[in-house]
Amino acid sequence: MDLGIAGKRALVLGASRGLGRAIATALAAEGAEVVLAARNRERLADVAAAITTPRARAEIIDLADEASVNGLAQRLLEAGGVDILVNNTGGPPTGSVRYTGDTATIRIPGVAPRAATTNRYASRR
Ligand SMILES: NC(=O)c1ccc[n+]([C@@H]2O[C@H](COP(=O)([O-])OP(=O)(O)OC[C@H]3O[C@@H](n4cnc5c(N)ncnc54)[C@H](OP(=O)(O)O)[C@@H]3O)[C@@H](O)[C@H]2O)c1
Repeated sequence: MDLGIAGKRALVLGASRGLGRAIATALAAEGAEVVLAARNRERLADVAAAITTPRARAEIIDLADEASVNGLAQRLLEAGGVDILVNNTGGPPTGSVRYTGDTATIRIPGVAPRAATTNRYASRR
């Protein structure tokens, strides 16, 4: 496939694994210059090494840290900006829902449990 993006610069956030890694690899295969961003230096280096086009490089960044984000933005602006932004990151922690009678209690790690009344059985009454 030719997406017409050869030579464009793409910033892929969350590029050290998962969807970000796959997207970065696909963009590089189209000839884009790929900036790989995430926190884990070793995994980013693995991704960069696996991309065989000459222009892939890693940037260590913590998207939860404003100074880190601004620092990367500044470096990229000084280098001419980006043409493509893949605004990706990790998902929320997995939680659970437990039903007791008409009450649903939602538990997510690091967040206080929440209970809510549900009409889940309403149609059976
Ligand atoms: N996979 C699916 O089927 C699917 C379906 C629907 C939606 N999604 C959503 O798509 C997104 C990506 O999914 P995924 O499965 O590829 O996730 P993943 O495998 O957990 O990858 C998340 C990526 O984000 C990076 N990351 C996480 N927190 C970061 C932070 N604070 N700063 C910088 N980088 C950070 C991680 O790298 P480091 O740990 O190295 O920083 C990693 O490269 C998530 O938001 C997910 O909820 C995924």
